[in-house]
Amino acid sequence: MANLFFLVSGEFESLSFSELKAILAAEGFTYAVTEFLDQTVRLQADAQSVREVLRRSGYTRVCAQELFVCEANDEAIVKAASGADFEAVLCDGETFEVRIRRIKEYATKEATMKYERLLGKLILQNAPKAKVDLKKPQKTFFGVLTNGKLLFGVKMGEVVPKPFVERRARKKPFFHPSAMNAKLARCMVNLAHAQSGSYVLDPFSGTGSTLIEASLIGCKAVGIDVQRHMAKGTLKNIRHFGLEPEGVIAADSRKLPLSRVDCVVTDPPYGRSSTTMKSSTKAIVEGIFSSVYPFLGRGQRICIASPKTLNVKRIGEQYGYRHLESHFAYVHRSLTREVAVFEKV
Ligand SMILES: C[S@@+](CC[C@H](N)C(=O)[O-])C[C@H]1O[C@@H](n2cnc3c(N)ncnc32)[C@H](O)[C@@H]1O
Repeated sequence: MANLFFLVSGEFESLSFSELKAILAAEGFTYAVTEFLDQTVRLQADAQSVREVLRRSGYTRVCAQELFVCEANDEAIVKAASGADFEAVLCDGETFEVRIRRIKEYATKEATMKYERLLGKLILQNAPKAKVDLKKPQKTFFGVLTNGKLLFGVKMGEVVPKPFVERRARKKPFFHPSAMNAKLARCMVNLAHAQSGSYVLDPFSGTGSTLIEASLIGCKAVGIDVQRHMAKGTLKNIRHFGLEPEGVIAADSRKLPLSRVDCVVTDPPYGRSSTTMKSSTKAIVEGIFSSVYPFLGRGQRICIASPKTLNVKRIGEQYGYRHLESHFAYVHRSLTREVAVFEKV
């Protein structure tokens, strides 16, 4: 087990932490969280797990292997760094840089830069054969200043935001204002514990956001949308990214034409920018909890977004599911979205 720390997005912190834990669980890694800090989590897990986090996560920013954690002041940093074996990290004089990120108001820009320089100096004292290279370093030492502490380690990788930006709703050939953003869609796929090769159903597939994200991590995507032109749009968008779904069907998802589903990830219509076809969101959500029930095995999950006012927890429990967690995201004055996760008991 390695000591790791992960810097996550500040946008949806609780979702980010849950997504990270969901990825580790879905990929079969055991882990023990050491500490939750603002935008950062420290945990012990197999170092191999980092590859899966980098491959799957929407909200993780940087993953690092921890060298030390100390209070964020000169004296404590010098003391902690003197106990670290930088030479072992920089085998035979590799080049390196030191990058430190400050979270919120926990440190000033000046202090952050000062600690970068200080640590660079301390590393060179310990590993005299190494050289600083700020353009193309072979190793990056990475630190986070948060909650009055400095977490310091060797960077193992970061989640590059550009591909998610490339999958923004406006960049897809079929656009609809109800489209969910790619990072949230990816996060929801992860919260549902979708695994490579498993069948992921979105019974309200719309522009295909969730199915694109599920396909990109190797799942078999199945989409349903009651409106034929939306179902065609789902297909068009998925194919735009060179992906092929298992199937996209124009049908009412309350009468599922399916025989197998491993998890459900969905954002049903709220009757604002997307139609409920003269039904209510409540009736639609009840319909989906009921119709997928026979196809899900015990412990398999539904991750669903809905308006907070719907109280989806109560609906899910009424239909025989265990409510695992909910996260709330303010969208605008009249909409706070709840992202809820359920499992079949
Ligand atoms: C909020 S949109 C889905 C947005 C989608 N997550 C995206 O990112 O594009 C809801 C979709 O549900 C579809 N829909 C409404 N009632 C339905 C029903 N009974 N069965 C299947 N689809 C339905 C609508 O046509 C609409 O495309």
